[in-house]
Amino acid sequence: MVVQKSKNDEAERGFKSVALVIGVTGIVGNSLAQILPLPNTPGGPWKVYGVARRPQPSWNAVHPIRHIQCDISDPHDAEAKLSLLTDVTHIFYTAWADGPTDAERCDVNGAMLRNVLRAVIPNAPCFRHVSLQTGISHYAESFNPLGPKFHEPPMTEDMPRSGKPHFYHTQEDILMEETAKKEGVTWSTDISYIKRCETSYPNYFQPNPTGWYGNLTIWLHADLIAEQYIWAAVDDHPSAKNEAFNCSNGDVFKWKHLWKVLAEQFGIEEYGYEEGSEVRLSEIMRDKGPVWDQIVRENQLQPTKIEDVCRSWFSDAMLTIALPLDNMNKAKEHGFLGYRNTKNSFIYLINKTKANKIVP
Ligand SMILES: NC(=O)c1ccc[n+]([C@@H]2O[C@H](COP(=O)([O-])OP(=O)(O)OC[C@H]3O[C@@H](n4cnc5c(N)ncnc54)[C@H](OP(=O)(O)O)[C@@H]3O)[C@@H](O)[C@H]2O)c1
Repeated sequence: MVVQKSKNDEAERGFKSVALVIGVTGIVGNSLAQILPLPNTPGGPWKVYGVARRPQPSWNAVHPIRHIQCDISDPHDAEAKLSLLTDVTHIFYTAWADGPTDAERCDVNGAMLRNVLRAVIPNAPCFRHVSLQTGISHYAESFNPLGPKFHEPPMTEDMPRSGKPHFYHTQEDILMEETAKKEGVTWSTDISYIKRCETSYPNYFQPNPTGWYGNLTIWLHADLIAEQYIWAAVDDHPSAKNEAFNCSNGDVFKWKHLWKVLAEQFGIEEYGYEEGSEVRLSEIMRDKGPVWDQIVRENQLQPTKIEDVCRSWFSDAMLTIALPLDNMNKAKEHGFLGYRNTKNSFIYLINKTKANKIVP
């Protein structure tokens, strides 16, 4: 078992809660790894285990977490490594796997979640809460962002499921089934609108005018979902238990207004939108691997491949559809008042990726 231990083990005895972050190398997992160990985080002081298949990346090595390499789709690997973590009190589940169809996504993602819950909950005597992250397509007929039929927005948590196979719904069912097996264990789900801060340069990209460009849209800073996740998980908020909550920044914006802001961060003067163009980022980026390698070399960046820093299929999907607005009233009424200014959040994230030498 590969566990990279924190250098601050002397603090071990003072922990009040013990988090197991599943998907710690991902967007939300990384925010949780950063926020949970902070001294003023609710429910703390937290001891934090982080799980992913990859080793701990250098850019999050500063976070005092115990990194465990484990393939949670393999029940034997999950049982062998995670059943040993008997001090865990909270699971923050942020992993996911894609698949060719919704039915196959249900199988693989359902199995991954079940493997984790069955390995941990029965073996951890003080276990209290599981937080599951889902996403906007919870309100759609399919996970495929290009093909879903959504409910009429704004989305509220009481909207019924479509009844078609969807891995978020499968995971919710498994979550309720597995937590119900042990008295006192609670759950919460965050229906998130988090988006990647891709490194696609604004002047390369011509968005679809019928989709998102002129529409009001919403975004979610990963740190905000980590904060909401933790808020719903800790003992101080009993009314947040066994509930689903939407999560987004709390403001609305139009991409055509944000484009200039993004271009400025990279010193790009010629940018904009070409009327009538339908070019896809995934097409533009198809042969740009060597260009990215050269940018990395010339700017002495962290060694990454273009696939690591730019999931262009996801950008295409998100920037082609008109993202439906959500409604955050439920979380507010239960006491979560967090928000982010989307423009500032983009600038912050771009500066952060620069400081971490991911982009020049
Ligand atoms: N990002 C978005 O814009 C967005 C929007 C709405 C909803 N969501 C939902 O939010 C959740 C998390 O998304 P995310 O964007 O934070 O994910 P992400 O950045 O793709 O990260 C996924 C994490 O899961 C880990 N993982 C995947 N398969 C694994 C396995 N077999 N064993 C162990 N670890 C595994 C990955 O690590 P390794 O690769 O190292 O194993 C990675 O740490 C998903 O349910 C997603 O659908 C995301």
